[in-house]
Amino acid sequence: MDKMNDEFYMSLALDMAERAQGQTGINPVVGCVVVKDGAMIGLGTHLQRGTGHAEVHALNMAAGKAQGSTAYVTLEPCSHYGKTPPCSQRLIDEGVARVVVACEDPNPQVAGRGVAMLREQGIEVEVGLLRSRALRLNEKFIKYILTKQPFVTLKSASTLDGKLATRTGDSKWISNGQAREIVHTLRHRHQGIMVGVNTVIADNPSLTTRMEVPGLNPVRIVIDSTLRIPLDASVVSDKQAPTIVVTTESADPVKRAALTDAGVQIVVSGAGPRVDLQAAMMALGELEIGSILLEGGGTLNGAMLENGFVDRVILFFAPKIVGGGVAAPGTFDFPGVELMRDAITLEGLEVEVLGDNVCISGTPIR
Ligand SMILES: NC(=O)c1ccc[n+]([C@@H]2O[C@H](COP(=O)([O-])OP(=O)(O)OC[C@H]3O[C@@H](n4cnc5c(N)ncnc54)[C@H](OP(=O)(O)O)[C@@H]3O)[C@@H](O)[C@H]2O)c1
Ligand SMILES: [Zn+2]
Repeated sequence: MDKMNDEFYMSLALDMAERAQGQTGINPVVGCVVVKDGAMIGLGTHLQRGTGHAEVHALNMAAGKAQGSTAYVTLEPCSHYGKTPPCSQRLIDEGVARVVVACEDPNPQVAGRGVAMLREQGIEVEVGLLRSRALRLNEKFIKYILTKQPFVTLKSASTLDGKLATRTGDSKWISNGQAREIVHTLRHRHQGIMVGVNTVIADNPSLTTRMEVPGLNPVRIVIDSTLRIPLDASVVSDKQAPTIVVTTESADPVKRAALTDAGVQIVVSGAGPRVDLQAAMMALGELEIGSILLEGGGTLNGAMLENGFVDRVILFFAPKIVGGGVAAPGTFDFPGVELMRDAITLEGLEVEVLGDNVCISGTPIR
């Protein structure tokens, strides 16, 4: 059984925040636990953008009895008047005696202000308990708030020799059920899902979230310089989720109008011949897409990785070897480096065994 201490309550607050991943849009996920005289009197989680913050829910539950309590919050309480009044003020007004915070507000312009506001009123504040877990939990929010560009997770399911399909293009199925369930959870946890146009042409994927329980569908994003996407592609016609096609100024205006009529949003990034990926990332950021799951194919994966747009790599491997040389598409198709010392290298490696599949994830070193 867990020992009851500060860590016990903070990890509950983090657990609650973790469960809300994917449903707060560009907002962070935050959990709060209010404890008084050895008992929890309030629990709160920020569930959706524009709705109450975690501290507000927890203090509402405490119903005026938070005088002298300790509040555990996974992110520094806010200090500015945004869509809601600042939580630091609410903690002060309720007479909370001690506030334990897992991590500071990542935005350097506001970092520390919430903590300072509490301390000025004589509240005891501790910062940094389970910080690395809290930072990891909000890595998408942190990237977006600091750069206004989406956090990109590259996911691929390949054979042991790194192939996404055989030399004839057959790709169903590579990974096992356990791995595929995780992929659908990843879709739920990202605001956008991105593929290259060749993947749409080859596989006609629906790119929706299919889990045991209903999940959220990300916005579907197709990178397509000349609008080769077929009008009868599922992502154009099935109305399961919004679709954005990112293209160039050189794309055919007639095809563009037809896609718009079909309900697709067109984003123009660059003059061509290919989509300017930097401009695309900025445009998607402006559309408030704060996180993207990149699902291939190899050409787009390679280009995104090479240009430094990938923040996390999650690779599922199945115990299969299919060979096929260049005819069989791989996870990363790009011109490649000359020397091993120039390889794109991952750090913070994690390995998870999923039955007969293995998941290796890490962060590309910039
Ligand atoms: N097993 C799996 O999980 C899985 C997942 C995904 C894909 N796949 C397989 O992968 C294959 C498709 O992969 P692919 O490598 O041929 O294509 P892809 O990555 O899906 O699409 C690449 C295309 O994107 C367009 N593009 C536009 N701007 C770009 C830019 N700046 N950088 C890179 N690409 C840009 C290019 O076409 P334009 O210039 O015409 O726009 C390019 O040819 C299919 O066989 C599919 O079955 C398998
Ligand atoms: Zn707040």
